[in-house]
Amino acid sequence: MNQHNGTPPLPPKRTGVPVVGSAIAFARDPYAFYADLASYGDVVRFSLGSYDIAAVLHPEGIKQVLVEDFDQFRKPDDAGGVEVLSDGLLLSDGDQWQRQRTRLQPIFYRERIETYAETMGSYAAAVADEWAATDGSVDLMEATSTYTLRVLGKTLFGVNTDEYRHAVRAGAEAVRQRSSESPVSVDIPDWLPTPGNRRYRRGIDQLEDVVDTLLEERGEDAGGDDLLSLLLTATADGEGPSEREIRSQLMTFLFAGHETSATALTWALYELGRKPAVAQRLTTEVDEVVDGSYAALAELPELEYTEQVLRETLRRYPPAAAIFRETDEAVRIGGYRLPEDTYVVLPQFHVHTDDRWWDIPRQFDPSRWDDIAEPPGDRPEYAYFPFGGGPRHCIGMRFARMELKLALATIARRYQITHEYDDVGIDVGSTVSPADSIGVTVEKRH
Ligand code: HEM
Repeated sequence: MNQHNGTPPLPPKRTGVPVVGSAIAFARDPYAFYADLASYGDVVRFSLGSYDIAAVLHPEGIKQVLVEDFDQFRKPDDAGGVEVLSDGLLLSDGDQWQRQRTRLQPIFYRERIETYAETMGSYAAAVADEWAATDGSVDLMEATSTYTLRVLGKTLFGVNTDEYRHAVRAGAEAVRQRSSESPVSVDIPDWLPTPGNRRYRRGIDQLEDVVDTLLEERGEDAGGDDLLSLLLTATADGEGPSEREIRSQLMTFLFAGHETSATALTWALYELGRKPAVAQRLTTEVDEVVDGSYAALAELPELEYTEQVLRETLRRYPPAAAIFRETDEAVRIGGYRLPEDTYVVLPQFHVHTDDRWWDIPRQFDPSRWDDIAEPPGDRPEYAYFPFGGGPRHCIGMRFARMELKLALATIARRYQITHEYDDVGIDVGSTVSPADSIGVTVEKRH
């Protein structure tokens, strides 16, 4: 600490609690834990397990990390505890990341994404149609992950994923569990046969089996223009990624491409069942706008309230709970010094509910977006960052927003959702998920 010769001080540190105490406080109530951190300032150090972390809580600091000083930060070296994903786009770094991002970007151009609208709308209708054959009880996470996985399989891999669904979900759950534990764990080595490690291994094995099958099925036939073909063709030309990288990439997309969207759609549908006024306004809009049996690309601009419901869902329940980085060199942020190799967290779930930027922040209220053309509205840009920001912002952002909007409009047009939950617990780990499965009753409207 040497303020006089121009070296900024280290950020304040949350103190008075033994190391393990922070982990317990975080696990008990992540919102309260971060509110407590915020009482120390906008850049705060704390310890979780064996990690020394600096939380950046102000939108200006967040923008600096993600955008302005992007080059001074890297993805954490421990790969979130999930080694099998380390060569995929989400966790790769430096030249490898740049090469991968450039190669994959065209798959996510607007014009390309728009060609998926038909699949997205019709698949949402198909999932809802399947409800007609039930007694009306639906497990939301099951239903929404069936939908997002089917869409992902068809559009990016050219396959029907129904037979892999359980395996992919088990794998995704393993990844989610492991990466949630990572910043709070007291490093347990992978090879120890603890129940957690065995569960993780089983989940990952299942995901690897799916990848094997996809590669076998499609390896011979790389002629299409989807993501899998792009990777395989590049390899055949001798200039593309190694097999290890392809496997990591497929696992990354199977995980990142369906779990987040399914979680968001689950929360949105849950809120419709909880807030009749929101459901009413939404159904009025979709009844007016959606012409056919499912929502279509041309109708998207008119679905303004549907858009607001989604924005609000991603604010209140940001599926990626927090973003992690490590400093590549010493940086100055918010008047403080973060030494090289500092672990940095940018907690969306906290910033999106910070009452400096949001009125009654815990309330789900899509009307807060009524007169706002683009988020974040009348507040600092990075008070809202569900898809991250800067060069590493979510490559699937347009894809996800379109698939969610088409699904929400299609489902709201066809079904009314009711349930008796007052408040479902929120589990903040690597995603912001419902603490338990959410069972709802669906009733056909049209
Ligand atoms: C509501 C849905 C989604 C949310 C909230 C979300 C959120 C995010 C966030 C916050 C990041 C940045 C992570 C960081 O900076 O460390 C990210 C990156 C990424 N997302 Fe998404 N995502 C969603 C859907 C998707 C979909 C549908 C796909 C694929 C089809 C996808 C693939 C990826 C990949 C590959 C990255 C890494 C990009 C890179 O580092 O270059 N995501 N996502």
